[in-house]
Amino acid sequence: MKIVLIGFMGSGKTSVANRLAKELNLKSIDMDEMLLQSSGYESINEIFEKNGERYFRILELEVARRLEDLKDVVISTGGGVVSNKKTITPLCKNSVVIYLKLTFDTARKRVLEKKIIPPLFQNIIEAEKLFIERESLYAAYADIVIDTNKIGINEALEKIIVELEKGKYGR
Ligand code: S3P
Repeated sequence: MKIVLIGFMGSGKTSVANRLAKELNLKSIDMDEMLLQSSGYESINEIFEKNGERYFRILELEVARRLEDLKDVVISTGGGVVSNKKTITPLCKNSVVIYLKLTFDTARKRVLEKKIIPPLFQNIIEAEKLFIERESLYAAYADIVIDTNKIGINEALEKIIVELEKGKYGR
């Protein structure tokens, strides 16, 4: 089974992916981490600062292509994968796509608590514009939608497992 977690920054994709992978005995893969490992950069912020978003998106597309045919994995994506059809298409192939939904206000609160603020959250007004642009895209690619506004990781995990059982996704 290939599970792909999508959603805006702050939606908890990485934490949920790690826990879900353990629960289902699958491998957890974090796209941003994989991108850093293969490109040799120290951080996503460094890539944006030195080479800009466009370059980051090229690296992200390369990673997405490497994930196309994987099985038995839970993939935590970067929040921007839905903006490029070429990137989201290989990720979605033969997978169950789970959208961790939240409001912009919740995203803002969660992201601003982090030690490192992601490059596309450094300007709050621009971040909100991105959020609005992407909401319908996340929904369009999702097989399962989990509203994470008022719940923590444990509850999100429970809800996901219930949905997976319901959906007969061929586990
Ligand atoms: C991005 C989200 C980040 C990271 C990069 C761009 C985005 O990942 O890929 O900073 O465009 O929303 P997270 O969603 O894991 O924070």
